[in-house]
Amino acid sequence: MSTWDFAGNFVVRMNRSHLLAVGIALLGSALLMTTAGCSSPGKSGRADGTGGASTGTGGNAGQLTGETGGSTGGTGATAVAGSSGTGGGADGGADPYPPPTVTPPDEDGSQLWLRYPLVNLPARLTEYQAGITQLVTAGSSATLQAAQAELVKGLGGLIGATIPVVSQPTAAGAVVIGTPTSSAIISGLALGSSLTAVGNEGYLVQATTVSGKAAVVVAGNTDVGVLHGAFALLRQLQCHQPLAGLALSESPKIQRRILEHWDNLDGSIERGYAGTSLWQWSALPGTLSQRYTDYARANASLGINGVVLNNVNADSQILTTSYLAKVAALANVFRPYGITVYLSAQFGAPQQIGGLSTADPANSSVATFWVNLAKTIYTMIPDFGGFLVKADSEGQPGPADYGRTHADGANMLEAALAPHGGIVMWRAFVYSDNGTDRIGQSYSEFKPLDGKFNAGTMVQVKNGPLDFQPREPFHQLFGAMPSTPLALELEITKEYLGEDTHLAYLGPMWQEVLQSDTTAKGQGSLVARVIDGTLHGYKLTAIAGVPGIGSDANWMGSHFNQANWYAFGRLGWNPDLNAQAIADEWIRQTFSNDPVVVTPVTQMMMNSRQNLVNYMEPLGLVHMMGTNTHYGPAPWVDNLTPADTNPYYFHKADATGIGFDRTSTGSDTVAQYFPQVASLFATRSTTPDDNLLFFQRVNWDDLLPSSGRTIWNELVYRYSAGVDAVQTMRNQWPMVMGRIDNQRYNDVADFLQIQHYEARWWRDTCLQYFMSVNKHAMPAGYSPPQQSLSYYQSLQTTCPADPTKPRCPAIYTGSPSPAITN
Ligand code: GCU
Repeated sequence: MSTWDFAGNFVVRMNRSHLLAVGIALLGSALLMTTAGCSSPGKSGRADGTGGASTGTGGNAGQLTGETGGSTGGTGATAVAGSSGTGGGADGGADPYPPPTVTPPDEDGSQLWLRYPLVNLPARLTEYQAGITQLVTAGSSATLQAAQAELVKGLGGLIGATIPVVSQPTAAGAVVIGTPTSSAIISGLALGSSLTAVGNEGYLVQATTVSGKAAVVVAGNTDVGVLHGAFALLRQLQCHQPLAGLALSESPKIQRRILEHWDNLDGSIERGYAGTSLWQWSALPGTLSQRYTDYARANASLGINGVVLNNVNADSQILTTSYLAKVAALANVFRPYGITVYLSAQFGAPQQIGGLSTADPANSSVATFWVNLAKTIYTMIPDFGGFLVKADSEGQPGPADYGRTHADGANMLEAALAPHGGIVMWRAFVYSDNGTDRIGQSYSEFKPLDGKFNAGTMVQVKNGPLDFQPREPFHQLFGAMPSTPLALELEITKEYLGEDTHLAYLGPMWQEVLQSDTTAKGQGSLVARVIDGTLHGYKLTAIAGVPGIGSDANWMGSHFNQANWYAFGRLGWNPDLNAQAIADEWIRQTFSNDPVVVTPVTQMMMNSRQNLVNYMEPLGLVHMMGTNTHYGPAPWVDNLTPADTNPYYFHKADATGIGFDRTSTGSDTVAQYFPQVASLFATRSTTPDDNLLFFQRVNWDDLLPSSGRTIWNELVYRYSAGVDAVQTMRNQWPMVMGRIDNQRYNDVADFLQIQHYEARWWRDTCLQYFMSVNKHAMPAGYSPPQQSLSYYQSLQTTCPADPTKPRCPAIYTGSPSPAITN
């Protein structure tokens, strides 16, 4: 059975209760989502309506994709979205992109989506060559210089000619950049309220006339706005969009859009799979790698405007003067790109580097330590963003050590930073083995503190209540803290989603959480509205992503992982963007505009996360992975302390059934959601299938109404369909051969093969384990597990040899598919 059939069948099988479940969890979401930047927000398909033979990449989402249509909703937004997409790749014609006569030259992925290749669509190239002839700049700030340099590089590459930089337009086709202050031309255009409306970081990019001649204007109220506009223009052109009628007006909906590096001072990266840290601490501050600037360019191209440099499991040494000098040097590199530096602060720093005997927030010497430290930091880094803090979590010290609350701890730090304009981002990721349901602890600790945090404090909440699993429901705190600004934390590095090798595009997962409806203030109280501040009127807003970016040439450990950095940035700018449209624009910039590439790769990406859920943790299973490294399956583990770190704790499979009862007959953690959502998740007939075992305990032989299968047979089906979906991806990828370079083609093909073996490993291990407890047989029509349970258990001692590039060569053998044999 193909992936498409799998997805399609789910759509067909969705019964009324599932549709209801999807609908309630996502109230209003589809209407609010907008398409992404290869076309204007809200624009569907090509303006010229000439998608040609490209077939577009949107519009059929529900039909095509496991993610958008396949999941019986989960809390998934896209099941009802059916993105209108961004249409086809080019104007008219059966094949506007004839196959290249020679395979494009090899690339290592280091250029990310900022490649600026010569436009290979003849009519569009002619249009661009006529419409872009010179660059008119004004202003000498480092930021405007960066915008100018990017445009010279980008426009030149796209049209295949050097772009002259002039001070006044001398011909048609001038690209005019600047602010009303820096540029008399921009000032003279009297852009008025339309420019004012885009705020400090937004831009207008318009095809217009200047002195009677056709021109393109890139205007902002600030130099950073101009820089963002320059990247927006380049995005349009890299997507081969027409110049005629170009009219972009954009501003970010979330104030702080931050990458939070889990980088250690020894160069290692917690949960990083892309080499070592970018930050070369021993060479700083004297030596500045070109990589820092390229990193800043990439972030600025997405509007990411903040970077936490170090791991939340923080080393207090970074707060010493010698390290702060290094931090200041990085801040100087990033500043022209509109990027502010933050640091993870170790709560125990007063003891570790301050010579104090306590870190108690009620101790005046401790408070003074932080006040003085803040003064030092702001002397060295005047625009320092603030502190990110992990406290009272996973062994980190915190205010609870002294009988104080999270608010006590956060407010002490805020009092030190606020006079300088800095903020505190206090993480809500806390758990300890206190005998209660682990997923309820964060809510229990933080909800009572609503309103008790100082104005310059945010509470940062992971997307789900557990820990970045392939699928979780949205976190209960969203909507529940109207008086405390909540930031959303996402994990870009794929700690639980196949690390470097598995192709898993996370845009749909993030869209799913952003478009979930908390119902806090009635229908439409989406997580996105919590995060952008509009639901509760937050004065501070933020979104954070843990990137895992490292020293590998391709930055992210794999070419497709770059899409997750890209999607994070785009959703941070506008949390209502559509994940499929984001994928579309990323593919066009990263690989090709050729529909022969765009169409299958979009389908691969949009299916990928649901496929992975299927072969790793279907039906609401979570936390089934190996101990410590979190690589590979280990569902049998039940001997760890604390108990809530065991896979068994989460699935509770025994002879009769499986699942964690979080309803009123169990932990009742479901009651932490607002009543409408609580009722949805607590009621068997309305719990989305994709969250079923997260909230409910079921018997193996219970029937799943959506499919008519028993729970056991459904698990076998989903695990198997997930494996075979990787085969489908491996069949699709060769469609792009010769249309992209061989190096990246082969890199991806190799990783797909690993993913296929590992998907089968996950499936066979989990099914063997479940059969050992439920004594059920494999249903007919499925391939049996290839090895015994004891064999799979033995792998935990050898796999992986290197957790930063996790592999398990022992299972890279045989034929993973078909897992479904009839
Ligand atoms: C996960 C991850 C840890 C990390 C933690 C956190 O549990 O495995 O490495 O420190 O999240 O977010 O603090």
